[in-house]
Amino acid sequence: MRLSNRLNNFDAYLGTAMNLILTKMRTEGKDVINLGLGDPDVQPPEHLRRALADACLDVNHHHYPSFYSPRPLKEAMANWYQRRFGSVLDPETEVLPLLGSAEGLFHIHSCLLDPGDVALVPDPAYPAYAAGVAIAGGVAIKVPLLEENNFLPDLKAIPQDVARQAKMIWVNYPNNPTSAEANLGFYQQLVDWARRYDVAVIADNPYSEICFDDFCPPSFLMADGAREVGIEFNSLSKAYNCCGWRIGMVLGNKEIISAMAKVKSHSDRGIYYPIQVAATAALDGPIDFMEGRNKMFTERRDVVVDSLNKLGIKATRPKATFYVWAPVPKGHSNSKEFCFSFLEKEAVWMIPGSMYGQYGEGYFRIALTHSTERLGEAMARLARFLG
Ligand SMILES: Cc1ncc(COP(=O)(O)O)c(C=O)c1O
Repeated sequence: MRLSNRLNNFDAYLGTAMNLILTKMRTEGKDVINLGLGDPDVQPPEHLRRALADACLDVNHHHYPSFYSPRPLKEAMANWYQRRFGSVLDPETEVLPLLGSAEGLFHIHSCLLDPGDVALVPDPAYPAYAAGVAIAGGVAIKVPLLEENNFLPDLKAIPQDVARQAKMIWVNYPNNPTSAEANLGFYQQLVDWARRYDVAVIADNPYSEICFDDFCPPSFLMADGAREVGIEFNSLSKAYNCCGWRIGMVLGNKEIISAMAKVKSHSDRGIYYPIQVAATAALDGPIDFMEGRNKMFTERRDVVVDSLNKLGIKATRPKATFYVWAPVPKGHSNSKEFCFSFLEKEAVWMIPGSMYGQYGEGYFRIALTHSTERLGEAMARLARFLG
């Protein structure tokens, strides 16, 4: 078979290979604790599961969903952004529902890049950004996210010729994997910078509702002029505890939204109608469950951060996301060696920072996706491993 050369330019999603390894370990009888995957042990509230079940029973809901008007869902998304962030968006031209935001993160590159075009991609980062650039034939230039800059990109440090060449820049706050947050001031600077160099801003905000200690993450679209220069992805996956539903959204710049709709008109036939009905119910419905859910993540965060600190690992206490980003303990040569030897000895999987890019080296990521008891057990195994 003559496969494309393009396949050599990116790696498969790291979670897929790890799931095979962890499943094999489980079949060998090991009590594996997977702190890698960002899919927590939570469920959508009952009224949403019921809305989905009822919509499935309707015999009219099983045709190609693109034959239905997607307007109620688009309106619910626009209204949600207005209520949550104060951003007024036209549901027809500035909002597009997605099959999970991952789908949009992929297609955006076909909308903005021709072969050889430059995209600025943070490092460390969610691997789909750089992979999407490579699959579209673009060139990813990495923008380091350093601890001394609170894991924000230093826009002034991007050389002017690189900024002029770039067609797009990815930003993701609250951030995966570092769990860093951005404020509105940062987004305003980003809009000004993007205008100066004519670069499209692509903001990824799926953790906007996973926040603690009275911190309320802003949206890029809150910045003045944001929708002239860019878009934002968001998702119901983490906000409404429904990672498996595959429902997300892209909002903002009309030209990009229309380009994305054009690409999607060939890549899918719309979102399964019962998911649209349930997602509309979610966005229009009560959000009181989020408070209890976030309190639960706060408790888990504190168990993990306190345990790491006791072990002499100085982890930052995140204000958002369900990830803890921590430095590799002394005595280990790099993040992969540390995480894989811990997995082998104690059957706990945490993600090596270098899997998110070269500037992720020296760190590892823990997902707070299990109960405090199970996280406590993982931390006890870590204490034993470090001796
Ligand atoms: C930074 C980031 N962006 C996007 C996604 C994809 O989310 P969705 O479930 O909406 O596809 C994830 C999922 O973990 C993520 O961490």
